[in-house]
Amino acid sequence: MEKKTYYITTPIYYPSAKLHIGHTYCTVNTDAFARYKRLTGHDVYFLTGADEHGQKIERSAADQGVTPQQYVDRIVEGFHSLWNLMDISNDGFVRTTDDYHMECVQKVFKKLYEQGDIYKSSYKGMYCTPCESFWTETQLKESGGVCPDCGRPVEEVEEESYFLRVSKYAPRLIEYIQANPDFIQPASRAKEMLNNFLLPGLEDLCVSRSTFKWGVPVSFDERHVIYVWFDAVLNYLSKLGYLSEDDSMFRKYWPADVHIVGKEIVRFHTIVWPIMLMALGLPLPKQVYGHGWLVLDGKKMGKSTGNVVDPEKLVERYGVDAIRYFLLSEFPFGSDGNFNNETLITRINSDLANDLGNLLSRTVAMIEKYFGGMVPEAAAPIPEEDDTIIPIAAALADRVEECMNALHPNDALSEIFKLIRLCNKYIDITAPWLLAKDETKRPRLGTVLYNLAECLRIASVCLRPFLTRTAPKIFAQLGIGDDASITEFDSIHEFGKLPTGLKVEKGEALFPRIDIAKELEHLETLLPKHEAASVPESSANDIVETKSEPESGKAQPDATKPEEKPEISYDEFAKLDLRVAKVVACEEVKKSKKLLKCTLEVGQETRTVLSGIKAWYSPENLIGKTVVLVANLAPKKICGIESHGMILCASDEGDVNLSALTTMSEMESGLKIR
Ligand code: ME8
Repeated sequence: MEKKTYYITTPIYYPSAKLHIGHTYCTVNTDAFARYKRLTGHDVYFLTGADEHGQKIERSAADQGVTPQQYVDRIVEGFHSLWNLMDISNDGFVRTTDDYHMECVQKVFKKLYEQGDIYKSSYKGMYCTPCESFWTETQLKESGGVCPDCGRPVEEVEEESYFLRVSKYAPRLIEYIQANPDFIQPASRAKEMLNNFLLPGLEDLCVSRSTFKWGVPVSFDERHVIYVWFDAVLNYLSKLGYLSEDDSMFRKYWPADVHIVGKEIVRFHTIVWPIMLMALGLPLPKQVYGHGWLVLDGKKMGKSTGNVVDPEKLVERYGVDAIRYFLLSEFPFGSDGNFNNETLITRINSDLANDLGNLLSRTVAMIEKYFGGMVPEAAAPIPEEDDTIIPIAAALADRVEECMNALHPNDALSEIFKLIRLCNKYIDITAPWLLAKDETKRPRLGTVLYNLAECLRIASVCLRPFLTRTAPKIFAQLGIGDDASITEFDSIHEFGKLPTGLKVEKGEALFPRIDIAKELEHLETLLPKHEAASVPESSANDIVETKSEPESGKAQPDATKPEEKPEISYDEFAKLDLRVAKVVACEEVKKSKKLLKCTLEVGQETRTVLSGIKAWYSPENLIGKTVVLVANLAPKKICGIESHGMILCASDEGDVNLSALTTMSEMESGLKIR
């Protein structure tokens, strides 16, 4: 029987800098899905790659004095070595500078032009270069004039351009999304696409640029290069040979089963891409899954902000499976997750070293000690003991299947580790060392050890897509080797397939325990320095003294771009008690070069607040002014004076300009700001 096909993709990443743990998170999860589908008998095509065109790359290459091609070649080499290191099992790697891809993009562009779905007009609008995105006035109005995706300033561009008739297809797409609730997952993202973009109305999309050169030229008008997103999404077709002489792969694998993408690019994948496909008369991908972000101290890790964790350093220290495990188990795939060193080490120690590692070493050691290393036979069960693990093991394949089909790898792992923990408990309940003391209990001892070995086999088969190195190590210790009849997924639907008489062999500990305190110190040195970590205790509410010095040589946040902070709920915002306050007195703090001591009237109350704004305001200038106070900030002693609250100010990154916030018209002190 022909295998069912399964086509899964990651985003193709920009080679604008080295990839970080966020990209690794997406690719490792996609890899686990691909491996899982192979394990369950699918013919999988797993594609990843590099998105090499666009103004951002052209500018970065120019900054480094190399050609864009030289620039991307070097970085893309790093992609390959990272994916090798992480045991990524991709079947294809597409580069948008590859000839077959460029030809495909040109053909699609021409086809859509000829059929009237692309037309020439002139464009004046706002463009975000880091995101390579155009934004309409309505969208910018809602975001306060900055890029709604990344919050950075947009640039005005005016040029003659080609446009894709997005508006023509929008009604069909709306219908499609509403009729296919699985198309965009998690479901909240479908709502977001409908409510924020589709239902308010789409304008035609500018799909060519003529102000720079680094892109796929429009074949019939070479002054234009094709918009990088139009170019990029076509990778999913070009790699399959779409519109080429040999399109057998395209016919076999299209439509894709799922595009895995980060939540910020769901828009391109569920609006622009489907409309391009509709215009081409092709079926849409079955699903687009928008996963959450890894954040570091509340900020999205990003190449451009430099607050990133280097996966290579982590793998070097803890091994690939420990890092894969952490990335697959710690964060619900659809939500954002905070990357935290302590959690990383704790998960390695508790789940991998203690739960899994100990279960294997105890089981193998007992089989060696009591049965000369041969897996014993199971005799009659004792249901009240054996039922704590056998039914769970027998149902594990189904549970894992359910979770993986829903793209919830962390839930699949938690099912597997539930069994592993139950097995450790089972050892405590059955106490094999006591059974071993009584010759009449030998059959029971054999049963217990058989059950443990069988549970370990079942758990390890399930672990294959996740822990690529560890599962084979467990099989080796259990004497199973690579016997497909007992290491494939089909072999674990039924409990008891492990043959007796296999020769177990003790190996090295799977995961050595880590000394947390020592390790955390080391990990701190691997993490980028970021402001939250470098705020001196004594000045935590002093806006000037909290600024850390930029470190030379390290990637610094771009001064022209606002910090990216994750979205917060209204409830979180409502925790801030912001008040109108009047400066009734003000003086310099003698011991400080930066601080002013302000006496504020906040309704009936009088407060002392120290503020690091001496360089911008003299005390006389401030007295009588209305300011905005964070009133519920915990009091703090600075220079021996208790400061209770913080005066809000706007400042540029270098603190050249600073201005205390005030209200547009005179308001009574004490009033709430909301
Ligand atoms: O957007 N947490 O490329 P890109 C989790 N070339 N995932 C993260 C992450 C984080 N902090 N940071 C990045 C592009 N990612 C385009 C894609 S596809 C046709 C074109 C992951 O290099 C996440 O999957 O900016 C995100 O969508 C992707 O990297 C963006 O990578």
